[in-house]
Amino acid sequence: MATTPPRQLHLNLFIHGRGHHEAAWRHPSASPLPLTDLRYYTDLARKAEAGLFDSVFLADTLAAGDDVTRAPRTWLEPVTTLAALAGVTTRIGLIATCSTTYTEPFNLARQFASLDHISNGRIGWNIVTTWLATASANFSNQGPLDHADRYDRAEEYMRAVAALWDSWSDDAVLDDRAGGQYAREGSIRPVRHAGPHYQVAGPLNIPRCPQGRPVFVQAGSSETGRRFAARHAEAVFTAQMEKATARDFYADLKGLAAESGRNPEHVLILPGLSPIIGATDAEAQRLARELNNLSDPEVGRKRLSGRFGGHDFSHLGLDQPLSPEDFPDPATVEAARSRTEVIIGLVRREKPTLRQLLGYLAGARGHFVTAGTPEQIATLIEDWFLNGAADGFNLMPPILPSMLEVFVAEVVPLLQKRGLFRSAYDGATLRSHYGLPRPDLRFP
Ligand SMILES: Cc1cc2nc3c(=O)[nH]c(=O)nc-3n(C[C@H](O)[C@H](O)[C@H](O)COP(=O)(O)O)c2cc1C
Repeated sequence: MATTPPRQLHLNLFIHGRGHHEAAWRHPSASPLPLTDLRYYTDLARKAEAGLFDSVFLADTLAAGDDVTRAPRTWLEPVTTLAALAGVTTRIGLIATCSTTYTEPFNLARQFASLDHISNGRIGWNIVTTWLATASANFSNQGPLDHADRYDRAEEYMRAVAALWDSWSDDAVLDDRAGGQYAREGSIRPVRHAGPHYQVAGPLNIPRCPQGRPVFVQAGSSETGRRFAARHAEAVFTAQMEKATARDFYADLKGLAAESGRNPEHVLILPGLSPIIGATDAEAQRLARELNNLSDPEVGRKRLSGRFGGHDFSHLGLDQPLSPEDFPDPATVEAARSRTEVIIGLVRREKPTLRQLLGYLAGARGHFVTAGTPEQIATLIEDWFLNGAADGFNLMPPILPSMLEVFVAEVVPLLQKRGLFRSAYDGATLRSHYGLPRPDLRFP
């Protein structure tokens, strides 16, 4: 009798600065390479591939930030960087962020189709609407759009890019040199998208990509963001500070996906996890203290203000205990709404001082941070995975590359031993690593 293979964990490496801790760039064990050196990214992607990760992910923002002299807010542009990473890796999935608010559908569809060809089917697109208000000034002040408008435009955007990716049938290219027929007649169709925000004639000027379409990743967790994810996302990144809220999020999103007529197994939920790993618990705690001692609370204060769309927190004393009334109501925040809910939730539960709150957010910006031994980290992963909180994790090492190296060397083998994680790649596309079907061609 055939047995169903046990459910497998998915792991994505989120590459960010020299690590996710705000002060990682200053820590002696962080990479000595500049953040503009391609070798830094190739080294990380190869290490994640050696650890059999499903994918690596590059986030993006579209403005330098007013604390750019005090913190490294610059990195290589994700789409061009993924093209380079595709050339030096063979199996690992590659995910780049690109904004629906500040990119035309034709540009985006073309770039991601091209990347999927370059990588032989390993590309994912992190669909963002760009919460950062200051980005608008770099795009002829077309925005900033409010939260609802951004998602509204994104909805139409998805129709336009899907039509572009589907504008070539899979077998369109004949490349018949003797007969002089490059592509089959009738196999390349116009898109003729004419909506309130976008007009796109099509077809795309590149054949259908190996995965049909890139894998759709999404990371907005507000009410509107969840509904958007339920309709479109195949993998969801989310910031959850504890297992209880992660479980609620998981159940809610899987339910919304089913309501949208989708198979909930085809919407993977990957909460952020930033583990500070030490050979002993005491060593992990010491590393956490070292990182916190290098943090600059004024950098944190500016970042907090950005999350809340530029709200002024300068009057709050660092050692003053906080209450939810010190923050604007999340429902009125047009920027990173769900993250403001996470932050106010923490304030309500733990009543930290501003210094303590900024210390926590310095860890991984509101994602789950924990310190422990490899055994403790593996047990935590297993617990969330088996108890309805995650299909895997968006690994956000506090320091790069050192904490990734430790994770691959010490935690991955434990997960394999427990039968939770692959011991070899089965397939060669991101869809196959994530267990996702190839999308049907919706020829217009
Ligand atoms: C892990 C993770 C990665 C994200 N990466 C980006 C990014 O690269 N660029 C961006 O503009 N927003 C990024 N976001 C923000 C979300 O896309 C979204 O804009 C934000 O959460 C606000 O939407 P919401 O209120 O629906 O949550 C990310 C969020 C998470 C949880």
